[in-house]
Order: sequence, then structure tokens, then C-alpha cells
Amino acid sequence: MKNKRRDFLKQACAPVLMVAFGIPVMQACGKQDDNEETNATNNIGGTVSINLSESQFSSLSAVGGWMNYTAENLLLIRISNTQIRAFDNACPHEGNRDKWSFANNTFTCSYHNNSFENNCNGSLRCYQTSIADGILTVKR
Ligand code: FES
Repeated sequence: MKNKRRDFLKQACAPVLMVAFGIPVMQACGKQDDNEETNATNNIGGTVSINLSESQFSSLSAVGGWMNYTAENLLLIRISNTQIRAFDNACPHEGNRDKWSFANNTFTCSYHNNSFENNCNGSLRCYQTSIADGILTVKR
């Protein structure tokens, strides 16, 4: 009888204490769901598929052509007939976006005129890409 009473108190005490101290169990579960939604919106860790035949990507048809694809925050540049590089368009200096120019194999951010090489070993965040059937796939 004594053991049954002890077992009952062990099981009953945890929920009673949570209610007594006002621990918002349901609210905590809701916050985790919100974070997952934010990540999905920002495409962090996602894949972007780009149909290169669309006119907005015509600058990528020739080697050396580039564009700032602001809808996906990507700097894209045609390296060869079979390869396009993709970088995050956030400047490594202070994270500003969308003030890019490109010359002599170098991207320059006009916020503070810092320049970054067009390769995946430099400061710009580089993403894995592939091209198949006219579709550029960027994995972030
Ligand atoms: S934010 Fe780009 S150079 Fe400073």
C-alpha cells in the first residue's frame, strides 16, 4: 500500500507542479513550429530550380554572363557551357545585398567598394549547382 501511494505521488506531481508554476507547455510547442516555417520561407537548406530558357535568365546564356537573382538572393555567373556558379548575394563585409557589379572575374559591392573573387574558395558563400535539361539546380 505504501509503494502504491508513492508511485501515485510521483506520477501526479509533475503535471501539478507545471500548472502551479504556470509553465506554458502548449506555447513552447507552438514556437518550434514557427521556426520551422521561417526556415522554409527563407529556403535555408533548400533547393532552387531555375528554368534557364526563361527570358529573365538570358544574361546567363553566354560564358561570363551574370545576374543578381534577387528573388532567391543569388548571384549567378556562367563559367562554361556546362557550369553556372551560384553565390549568396549577401556581401561578406556587412551582409548588405544587391549593390553588385562584376568585372575582371571579381564581384564588387558598392556599399563600401570591397571586391570578392568569382570562385568557391573566396569569401562569397558558394552553393553547389548542376544543370540538366536546361534546368539549373542550386543546393543551399
Ligand atoms: S557591405 Fe559590401 S562592401 Fe561593405
